[in-house]
Amino acid sequence: MVILVTGASGQLGQALQFIAGKYSGIQFHFCSSSDLDITKKQAIEDVFKATNPNFCVNAAAYTAVDKAESEPEKAHLINVDGAKNLAETCKFFNTTLIHVSTDFVFDGYKNLPYTEIDHTNPRGIYGKTKREGEQKIAENLIEHFIIRTSWLYSQFGNNFMKTMLRLAQDRDSLSVVNDQIGTPTNAIDLAEVIIKVIFSNSKNYGIYHFSNEGSASWYDFAKKIFEINQVNIDLKPILTSEFPTLAQRPKYSVLNKSKIKTEFKITIDTWEDSLVRT
Ligand SMILES: NC(=O)c1ccc[n+]([C@@H]2O[C@H](COP(=O)([O-])OP(=O)(O)OC[C@H]3O[C@@H](n4cnc5c(N)ncnc54)[C@H](OP(=O)(O)O)[C@@H]3O)[C@@H](O)[C@H]2O)c1
Repeated sequence: MVILVTGASGQLGQALQFIAGKYSGIQFHFCSSSDLDITKKQAIEDVFKATNPNFCVNAAAYTAVDKAESEPEKAHLINVDGAKNLAETCKFFNTTLIHVSTDFVFDGYKNLPYTEIDHTNPRGIYGKTKREGEQKIAENLIEHFIIRTSWLYSQFGNNFMKTMLRLAQDRDSLSVVNDQIGTPTNAIDLAEVIIKVIFSNSKNYGIYHFSNEGSASWYDFAKKIFEINQVNIDLKPILTSEFPTLAQRPKYSVLNKSKIKTEFKITIDTWEDSLVRT
């Protein structure tokens, strides 16, 4: 079994590298953006020719949600054209593509967990390009799994948990948004699920939702991070309107995980339990 991982230096890419040692039956090829730029079709074909992967896990993406508003072309190039390049190359080489997408494809006007068949309506450039990337994959390749996830954190890369702990080193108080509801997801849990999908032999291709269980606001998430790490700080809940950002975010983006739990026979930890393990 050969697995090619793109975007290997990112948060999810590093989480996959962290767990890879447990799977001695798999030959992993981890490619960072400097090893393989997914916007370059010929470069992808060269790497596929050299490695002949059974599965390609696309952990590469343009993920700067606010910056995307002023760099729409770059976000499109990576999240749409890059995804299409991978899908076309996977088709040619008979490779199954596992692609990662986001809760930001939803507008957040629902107040029940989003299912895979719910209407998408991204609010910003990042979400729009991620949604278009999903569509390009579905149009070009049957053998694909798209896993939408939310609020990724881990000891790797840049993420909310690390930002909170860094800010707390220099400040006595912090204000965090309390009216956006979603679910934090441990990147290691997502990496393990990706491996389960690979080992499952499932041919039920398409979109799946995965996050940890439960729901929280960013304020709840920050509160738990500080509690677990025994950080004493004055944490204040604020409204989104008090913390304007360039990109609009969904107010509610909890994902319904019934489909992935049934298809791959998995149980999922609550976000609080998983955070304790980080
Ligand atoms: N982070 C979250 O909260 C979150 C939430 C929901 C969904 N997701 C999705 O989960 C996936 C993984 O996210 P993440 O947190 O691991 O993101 P990340 O830490 O930003 O990693 C993305 C990686 O993609 C690489 N990359 C960028 N442009 C590339 C290109 N043209 N060719 C190859 N690689 C390129 C980056 O490399 P450089 O650093 O060298 O540019 C980086 O290593 C993404 O699809 C994201 O949309 C993330």
